[in-house]
Amino acid sequence: MPASDDRKGTADRRRKQVRRPDDRRGGADRRLLDKGRPDGDRRAHQERRVGERRAGDRRDEAAWQPIALEAAGDGNYDDAALVAAAVDAREHARARFSGFKVGAALETAKGEVVTGCNIENATYGLTMCAERVALYKALSDGRDIFTRIAVVADTEDPTPPCGSCRQLLWEYCGDIDVILSNLSDVKKRLRLSQLLPLPFDARLLE
Ligand code: THU
Repeated sequence: MPASDDRKGTADRRRKQVRRPDDRRGGADRRLLDKGRPDGDRRAHQERRVGERRAGDRRDEAAWQPIALEAAGDGNYDDAALVAAAVDAREHARARFSGFKVGAALETAKGEVVTGCNIENATYGLTMCAERVALYKALSDGRDIFTRIAVVADTEDPTPPCGSCRQLLWEYCGDIDVILSNLSDVKKRLRLSQLLPLPFDARLLE
């Protein structure tokens, strides 16, 4: 682990919960599944039960240190419904200036899905991304705890959230799963901490 012990110690104290340095599991996974996986392995996506939801609040589970990008899974049927919701939402995109339509679907811990699409305007700079539209809709409706977000664009390569969206998702959702898909296939699946490995957030203002 390249990061200094000092930094790790501070992060541990902030979590008020000591975690083995090599244990990458989130709090929910540790609490629910702590049955002999001391190496911190997360189950492969294929091993998950159908419809299983890891309904933990990941806002406090900061990956305080950079995490190596791991090979992304291909996604599975568990993600299909969320991706489908993002595909549908994408149809509502107001993207006449870029022609680049994006859809997003954010899943709450209760299994609800809140969708968004990108909304552009003539000043360009006031554009709002699909991810933040979904997030703001969800927050303004009183939704509070989130587990996954699917992002869909009509591109061969995965379309990841922009930097602003990464920041906002991190602060309000924590280390959620991010599923990147085009109109036909899931292209990548990762954790938000892999997209934003050394985040600035409220803990630094304490
Ligand atoms: N966009 C999103 O909505 N989400 C992303 O993840 C990437 C970019 C939008 C913003 C803008 O309307 C268009 O895509 C081109 O940047």
